[in-house]
Amino acid sequence: MNTSNKLSSNNFNKVIGIVRNQTAVQTQLDADKLNNVRLVTADLTSPSALASAAQATAELTDGAIDYLIVNGAYVSEDTQSLTPTSFIGKEELFKDDLMTSSMTNVVGVLYIINTFLPLIRAGSIKKIIVISSGMADPGFMEIAGVPQAVTYTTSKAAANILVTKYAIELVNTRGSTMENCKYCALLDFEILLYFESEGLPVAPKTRSEFAAMAEAFRKYEPNFGGPITPEASVKMQLDVIRVIKIADPGKFLSHRGKERWL
Ligand SMILES: NC(=O)c1ccc[n+]([C@@H]2O[C@H](COP(=O)([O-])OP(=O)(O)OC[C@H]3O[C@@H](n4cnc5c(N)ncnc54)[C@H](OP(=O)(O)O)[C@@H]3O)[C@@H](O)[C@H]2O)c1
Repeated sequence: MNTSNKLSSNNFNKVIGIVRNQTAVQTQLDADKLNNVRLVTADLTSPSALASAAQATAELTDGAIDYLIVNGAYVSEDTQSLTPTSFIGKEELFKDDLMTSSMTNVVGVLYIINTFLPLIRAGSIKKIIVISSGMADPGFMEIAGVPQAVTYTTSKAAANILVTKYAIELVNTRGSTMENCKYCALLDFEILLYFESEGLPVAPKTRSEFAAMAEAFRKYEPNFGGPITPEASVKMQLDVIRVIKIADPGKFLSHRGKERWL
């Protein structure tokens, strides 16, 4: 929603949101008085639904789009706090959660890019952005020492490799006609900040988990000052998306436009 909000505030932008629950999202758009966002319905895991969404998008955009931003992701609440050995005796949970994560965060990324590629090729800017996570960077993980979020992080790391493969294929075979970038965006602390700003309750366990994560993050970035708002994060993401160049195919960048995550 924050990405749509920011993009639609510029009347020159035509924003198409691919959503699962069109009624709920349209209600929110109406409440926010955002009139230039069009919604089409699809689930990332359904090639046929994505094909219909691409067709509906093409009808709204004369068959071309400038940017494809793949932001949707499955973030498992059940396993976020579990480490690899926490799955001893919970093997089914690990398998099921990794499969669900991979279906949306890896398979879904390939499905949507392949489905929308003809529209991107027909556009003039030709940027495909996949929102990743700094948690998928092994260097960051080793320094911060975060053993949790195993299935989410594993699926995001696989998505990064997938984007590298796209970058090699699309940029190398199509010369300067295709730009492609993988890109990390939001800070995990936003969730806590969001709950607090909305006056929603934050469980003590959640609060202490976030405090522990902040401590871990400071091993990586001693000056880490805590969360930024979703609005600030989206603004930074869009600034990076705007300036990335053909020289950056497949790069894994943060919302700061570099390979530093905090
Ligand atoms: N929040 C953070 O701190 C953080 C940090 C680093 C990276 N990121 C990345 O930033 C992106 C956005 O994160 P977020 O925190 O906004 O996530 P979020 O609040 O969990 O929202 C995820 C969105 O993805 C959609 N989605 C999930 N599965 C889908 C599917 N199979 N098909 C279509 N849509 C699906 C959800 O749709 P429904 O509304 O229909 O459920 C929801 O709108 C993600 O790629 C995430 O990995 C987030």
